[in-house]
Amino acid sequence: MATQFVTMRVFINLHRSGMNERKILVTSALPYANGSIHLGHLVEYIQTDIWVRFQKMRGHTVYYVCADDTHGTPIMLRAEKEGITPESLIARVHQEHLKDFTGFHIQFDNYYSTHSAETRFFSEDIYHKLKNAGLISVRAIEQLYDPVKNMFLPDRFVKGECPKCGAKDQYGDSCEVCGAAYAPTELKNPYSSVSGAKPIQKSSEHYFFNLSDPRCADFLRRWTREFDHLQPEAANKMREWLGEAGENKLSDWDISRDAPYFGFEIPDAPGKYFYVWLDAPIGYMGSFKKFCEQKRIDFDQFWQKNATTELYHFIGKDILYFHALFWPAMLENSGYRTPTKIFAHGFLTVNGEKMSKSRGTFITAESYLQQQLNPEWLRYYYAAKLNSTMEDIDLNLDDFIARVNSDLIGKFVNIASRCAGFITKRFDGKLVAGAQYQQLRATIDEHFANWRPELIEKAFEEREYAGAIRQIMKFADEANEMIHQLAPWEMAKKPNQEEELHRACSLGIQLFYLLSCYLKPVIPGTVEKIEQFLNTQSLAWPVLTESQSVSHLLLPAGHAINAYQHLMTRIDAKQIDALISANQQSLLANDKANDIKQNNQSAQAQQNIAPIAETITIDDFGKIDLRVARIAHAEQVAGAEKLLKLTLDIGSEQRTVFAGIKSAYDPEQLKGRLTVMVANLAPRQMKFGLSEGMVLAAGGSNPGELFILSPDSGAQPGMRIK
Ligand code: 2FM
Ligand code: ZN
Repeated sequence: MATQFVTMRVFINLHRSGMNERKILVTSALPYANGSIHLGHLVEYIQTDIWVRFQKMRGHTVYYVCADDTHGTPIMLRAEKEGITPESLIARVHQEHLKDFTGFHIQFDNYYSTHSAETRFFSEDIYHKLKNAGLISVRAIEQLYDPVKNMFLPDRFVKGECPKCGAKDQYGDSCEVCGAAYAPTELKNPYSSVSGAKPIQKSSEHYFFNLSDPRCADFLRRWTREFDHLQPEAANKMREWLGEAGENKLSDWDISRDAPYFGFEIPDAPGKYFYVWLDAPIGYMGSFKKFCEQKRIDFDQFWQKNATTELYHFIGKDILYFHALFWPAMLENSGYRTPTKIFAHGFLTVNGEKMSKSRGTFITAESYLQQQLNPEWLRYYYAAKLNSTMEDIDLNLDDFIARVNSDLIGKFVNIASRCAGFITKRFDGKLVAGAQYQQLRATIDEHFANWRPELIEKAFEEREYAGAIRQIMKFADEANEMIHQLAPWEMAKKPNQEEELHRACSLGIQLFYLLSCYLKPVIPGTVEKIEQFLNTQSLAWPVLTESQSVSHLLLPAGHAINAYQHLMTRIDAKQIDALISANQQSLLANDKANDIKQNNQSAQAQQNIAPIAETITIDDFGKIDLRVARIAHAEQVAGAEKLLKLTLDIGSEQRTVFAGIKSAYDPEQLKGRLTVMVANLAPRQMKFGLSEGMVLAAGGSNPGELFILSPDSGAQPGMRIK
């Protein structure tokens, strides 16, 4: 029944406005699955959610999808550090993220994961189509490699001294002290932050998306120019990146990473994986595909070339390059539609500075909710600050308290709390009807004729939320001014002013109702309580034809409301202090946990090192004849749990040795390798045959931790080790 009502209301809205229903798909950037959601992230999700809710209120068909961005080296290493699989890590973080988003009323239609069959399908599909179009190439590149971890190192995992200012412990791409940008190979005394080892340069084959192909640059130039796909600042950036026609400023984009990597293996390229940034935006498609399958929605209607539906990506300005260059070029050249618009926002500062863990301003969504702060305070404050540009926004904590308390409590909620009690107690919960209602309408049309929705609607549509909020609060001031003048609390004292009191309070409630409609995209949780209080169905966006006046928007004559219930508390400065201190504490707790972990690790490492054996003389040592041996042959031993049978060439002869290294080596890996053997050990008859010596291997205390020794290159079989 409720759904029917809403549907009808929506229909009426669209019908009344003469507007065609739009079909819109909206996304926010996918957060990485190895970190917590913090207040910086929330700028974007709140910005998007407000826009989506506004469009839904207007009766358009809107789908809002997102997902966790699950692939890449940091996630792989984080899981390893925690001693769990990447799959369990991303499953846990998915729950945490979803809980945070739900806590802030971010209402996704689907919140998925890039580690999904759907995202894999579209990644392979797009890759194949680009390949068939001749836009994929393969070539070898040199990169830094960790010889201990046996992996290539992303720039962020190489540290060393800044080549410009010499500052220590700087990342491989830029210096946090002097701001210089450089290649990781330029760092002085580089080390791998994964193992501490000195990286070596190693070459490997990489797959590239040929962005330098004129088809890409030409398309992107057209795309940037032809429609309003980008904000003016973003379009300027694009022009800078693209250069003039004929100029070729775009480099091919490296879309592969070598194993070990957590991601999707590239078809027909064993050991090569799609770079996380290749499949991340494809995750938008993956998430939507999953949703379409569940809800029987036509996926193609939103993604096929020349689709008439709309597609919007909300992102931070730092990832514009990926969304404005790579993504449209990928889509265009693989036969899909391109985005209608990309909306980039700026960064968040807190008290005018970058969020800081030590100052306690690196505030997680979870801690905010745990401290019992109302998520709608933040939604409101962000809305009051946001506009359509890429400018940064500041969360000034004193201003946050002042603004929320003054606007939401002092101006907005106050209207209802001052008028509702009289309606309930004196008028049986009913607003004025009949002639009184006509009088009230006349007052509204006379004094509140400017309360039309159009300007606010335009501001929300254009993401000028600060403008919308300014306008709404101006209305709230006007309402309060009128209530102040009428002073119903004075009327209530006079028995002959019943009608005036009823009209004044009904006016207050009607104005409050309109303000609630306008504020609903921003504070949906509070408006849900208001809907209950006002005894209305879900509030839709107010719509007026040109000839209609504001009084057409009111609740009907004689409408019955419920008793006023508490809607929102004020922010107490102590709550903010507690929040800051909780975030500082959690940093200390993390540091402590890391210290303990490190101490444990080193204590454990020490425990694993066996004590040094009793001292021997050089003569004792000289009794052992150690020789370089080439493993001529290696094979499994039927029925043996631990042994491999090795044939060792020591120059003068070949020996058979049964070595207990089966758990650590595959025989095929060993063939041809040089190693070290004890050549004068008395032969030993074993169950599987005679063993004529012993191979040397280093071993930890854990099973399978075995490493056979190798001499340096140049050594020859039979050489004595002294
Ligand atoms: O910058 C980031 O946090 C990325 N995880 C955003 C990905 S957005 C999209 F492309 F998936
Ligand atoms: Zn520097």
